[in-house]
Amino acid sequence: ATDPLVLFMPSGKRGRFPVGTSVLEAARSLGVYVESVCGGRATCGRCQIEVQEGQFAKHGITSSNDHISPVGPKEKRYAEVRTIPAGRRLSCSATILGDLVVDVPPDTVVNAQVIRKAATDRTFPRNPAIQLCYVEVDEPDMHKPLGDLDRLNLMLEKDWGFQNILVAQHLLPDVQKTLRKGNWGVTAAIHRDLETSRPNMIALWPGLHNEAYGIACDIGSTTIAMHLVSLLSGRVIASSGTSNPQIRFGEDLMSRVSYVMMNPDGREAMTKAVRQAINELTVKVCKEAGVNPDDILDAVFVANPIMHHLFLGIDPTELGQAPFALAVSGAVHTWSREIDLAINHGARVYCLPCIAGHVGADAAGATLSEGPHRQDKMMLLVDVGTNAEIVLGNRERTVAASSPTGPAFEGAEISCGQRAAPGAIERVRIDAETLEPRFKVIGVEPWSDEEGFAEAAEKTGITGICGSAIIEVVAEMYLSGVISADGVVDGAMAAKSHRILENGRTFSYLLHDGAQKITVTQNDVRAIQLAKAALYAGIKLLMEKLGVETVDTIRFAGAFGSFIDPKYAMVLGLIPDCDLAEVKAVGNAAGTGALMALLNRDYRREIEDTVTRIEKIETALEPHFQQLFIDAMALPNKVDPFPKLAS
Ligand code: FES
Repeated sequence: ATDPLVLFMPSGKRGRFPVGTSVLEAARSLGVYVESVCGGRATCGRCQIEVQEGQFAKHGITSSNDHISPVGPKEKRYAEVRTIPAGRRLSCSATILGDLVVDVPPDTVVNAQVIRKAATDRTFPRNPAIQLCYVEVDEPDMHKPLGDLDRLNLMLEKDWGFQNILVAQHLLPDVQKTLRKGNWGVTAAIHRDLETSRPNMIALWPGLHNEAYGIACDIGSTTIAMHLVSLLSGRVIASSGTSNPQIRFGEDLMSRVSYVMMNPDGREAMTKAVRQAINELTVKVCKEAGVNPDDILDAVFVANPIMHHLFLGIDPTELGQAPFALAVSGAVHTWSREIDLAINHGARVYCLPCIAGHVGADAAGATLSEGPHRQDKMMLLVDVGTNAEIVLGNRERTVAASSPTGPAFEGAEISCGQRAAPGAIERVRIDAETLEPRFKVIGVEPWSDEEGFAEAAEKTGITGICGSAIIEVVAEMYLSGVISADGVVDGAMAAKSHRILENGRTFSYLLHDGAQKITVTQNDVRAIQLAKAALYAGIKLLMEKLGVETVDTIRFAGAFGSFIDPKYAMVLGLIPDCDLAEVKAVGNAAGTGALMALLNRDYRREIEDTVTRIEKIETALEPHFQQLFIDAMALPNKVDPFPKLAS
């Protein structure tokens, strides 16, 4: 008779195995990732699987719990100490008796952990660079004078298949103490990122150590965001953010580069500041989740090129001028102790590759997360900050550029712009007949009308427009005819409405006539036009490079994208014509990319390979860019049609 057939889900990998093979062994031999710390001793609980029952006609399998060995004494002992969720089995103890469909759950929760905030509801296949390996080492023998560490390495080879292990020097002084403390049972953390590199022992604990964590971090010019992840369960267990303290050296990227150029200690001061903020944020997420920072063994970072360099201690001066040379564009592998991170002394650090001098590892992270290179559709991915990073492409070809949008989209340079805080106008509608506005205001109780918009005449405490609403305000001004396609506030309307105010040689629109007058000036409209023209011209340049007239789908990464309404982005011509249902905000996609690279080293290889194939376009060097920019100053655009907007 033929051996039973076992199908692993969700990977779909399958194979035949003799009766009595453990499910864990079967998974291993097919290359299906199932966690294990104790090496099959039924003590770590990490190897949980579930059997799917039923007929799987497509695969020719009838799977049932009768086709797996019943719970034996070891598994029973484990279940007495710790609970195993109903339906789950320890794959190291359960053996194959007949055909099976086995589900490898995306998470295996062993120690109850409070999950504060689900950072992302996506789950990713796991294959982390760090593996915890428990071994039982032979006791020393006078007749075989092999060192304690050497016998430990022999067991790691025998039980776990790691050959030629490189042991971190800082572990040597304590090896003997640790082995004896664990009564010859120890857990080693082995790091192996590249399949070809030597496995690295980076930490060692007495006994069974059943916790390993990682951090995924996005270092933005204004905000630093971090996920704390259990490497053994694959779960994000805390997420948080803090502002980048480098702001005190300069608001935007270029002013920070100038700071370095003008001050002999400038680079060092900024490096220290960002690392300290990262350490404080690490303490914060660890506290929130009840994790010891010493159990953090891997850290993945994404950042724009200047933040990336400053974080690694590299002088960013070359990035301040053409040809915008990166000190290093490939992925960076280093150790926490080399860059002063307050996590495990032996922890590893991985930085995603940068795409170009202006398009950083953050754009690489967003690319990894959204995957234009994985699909047939033509995808446009934009991350809007003071620089817009733009990636366009599909499976066949991908191009990238950055465009200097300036801070207008973030509400800076706007006369009535303010932070998104109570009192800030966040949504606006303007009546085309009367030119009277209606608002939604942050922190102000829901008003009368069904959509939550209301007249604001008598409301107090309205203080400004938040950055994300400025797009909507200008778009509504355009739709109601307050501004022309050239972006000029129409003075003739002053006769029709008291909301059009004369302002020297130009006109403004009075948005709110309260204790604090809130007006949108001609300069405000200009600032938005300049920013949106830079963004659109960058996108258009990439479309021309690829020879495409339209894009199939658009992804807005970053905070900006989460707040703007795609319709208004298109009304103003920030983005090209596209089916509105295909325009989506994806939040911090760069951070999600870092998370993926932390959970699975295959994603590291994927983005390293993809980045080398992305064609980099330097907008400043393209003579055609200027014309595209001028055309894009008009609303929505002087030459390009927006048929989907009309329908
Ligand atoms: Fe540790 Fe199964 S591998 S319990």
